[in-house]
Amino acid sequence: MKPETFYIKNYGCQMNFYDSERMGALLQEHGLAEVASADAADVVVLNTCHIREKAAEKIYSDLGRLRRLKEKSPAMVIGVAGCVAQAEGQEIVRRAPIVNMVFGPQTIQDLPAMLDKYQETGETIMRLDFPAQEKFAALAAQNKKFITRRAAAYLTIQEGCDKFCTFCVVPYTRGQEVSRRRDEIIAEAQGLRDAGICDITLLGQNVNAWQCPISGVGLADLLRALAQLDGIERLRFTTSHPRDMNDDLIAVFGDCEKLMPYLHLPIQSGSDRILQAMNRQHSVAHYLDIMQRLRAVRPDIALSSDFIIGFPSESDADFEATLSLIDEVGFAQAFSFKYSPRPGTPAAAHEAQVPEDVKAARLGEVQKRLAHHQRRFNEAQIGRVLPILFEAEHKGAASKHKNQISGRSPYLQPVHVAFPEDDASKNKSENKSENKSENKSENTSLDERTKSAFYGLCAPVLIEAAGDFSLRGRLLNE
Ligand code: 5AD
Ligand code: SF4
Repeated sequence: MKPETFYIKNYGCQMNFYDSERMGALLQEHGLAEVASADAADVVVLNTCHIREKAAEKIYSDLGRLRRLKEKSPAMVIGVAGCVAQAEGQEIVRRAPIVNMVFGPQTIQDLPAMLDKYQETGETIMRLDFPAQEKFAALAAQNKKFITRRAAAYLTIQEGCDKFCTFCVVPYTRGQEVSRRRDEIIAEAQGLRDAGICDITLLGQNVNAWQCPISGVGLADLLRALAQLDGIERLRFTTSHPRDMNDDLIAVFGDCEKLMPYLHLPIQSGSDRILQAMNRQHSVAHYLDIMQRLRAVRPDIALSSDFIIGFPSESDADFEATLSLIDEVGFAQAFSFKYSPRPGTPAAAHEAQVPEDVKAARLGEVQKRLAHHQRRFNEAQIGRVLPILFEAEHKGAASKHKNQISGRSPYLQPVHVAFPEDDASKNKSENKSENKSENKSENTSLDERTKSAFYGLCAPVLIEAAGDFSLRGRLLNE
């Protein structure tokens, strides 16, 4: 029986989110329809993450639930993709024999072929190779298919990592740093632009290590070229490593207005001793120097970061140094995690593991401090006029917030604006007359149609209030 429906569960980072969307688009092209839950699906794919905590255990418990579904519908095909698949390989099928396909992050472009092959032979599929360039080429071809009324999109330009931070599993699961060709990236950006996207985030595990494999040019050159594209209004890139923040890349923040004044630059710890034990290859002073040089060329730049708390041998003094660094930089946003030993990484074998309760207490403290700075940064926007890019909300939220439209600030803060009355009533009368002749609008509610006029629009908003995670404002007529 040919499968007709699919469900993809995504775990983890933006790279995975992008991969999940692409897998969905590939399956749709292959004639399958997406459904909202695993119980209605003929094909279920878990796109897994291995970076922290008991990620693998979570997958096995989800697979336990799927086993019960598969007992009821034995034809269900179950795939495990992503970094846990890459790290565990055959072990997944040994522990969970219900799994039919195991494939790593570099092989997702072959999902339809794997599915066909499994259907044909009934044999478990195992794909753990690293053909990154093939993945890039295959995914570029179908970028329009998955875009639905969105203004912003991700574009993968680089995969993998050669840095080998001692805590991190990525170099083992995603493989070596591989960059995509400049001409392919620009062609994909043009395709996104033609599909209505005006805000592009370039993605890569080490995005600022990107270097065109043909011409050798770096990320600053690519950003300047993308900024030349009419219709592309906002550019960002993530995730960067401090070691690769070269002079040219800092300069581009000063001369490229379309590059948003916001940079996610993980530091992980405020202690040089810990940074060294992590093999980060940069010091605190180096990080602060980057920050100062960025602020010199782009005074309104805001930084975000990642922190690992309780790395092996972290002392009270090391932890205090992290708190001081947080106060010194005043991050606009940051992510912090308890150190989680990853099997096979050097730090996991370190004998001075920090006790769980100490890690938990330090994490609580760090998160309080980070939340304070985030709130302060949000409050600092009150009274400013920010250009807000409006976007369709996901379905659930859209029906809850009938009288508001939402968008993103240059700093990625969600910004909510009460619906402008005038526009609502004006559109109401216009839509009434349209309704007679235009059948297709009958399926969409009036609010939705009125709101959708704003999707993809960048408009000035006076910020009037700030919360922990979002802002509220008033649309200015211009
Ligand atoms: N434990 C905790 N956090 C980790 N990260 C990566 N590996 C680990 C680990 N073993 C965090 C880092 C990285 C982010 C994506 O995940 O902060 O920047
Ligand atoms: Fe992991 Fe370090 Fe590579 Fe980032 S730079 S992916 S933290 S090894």
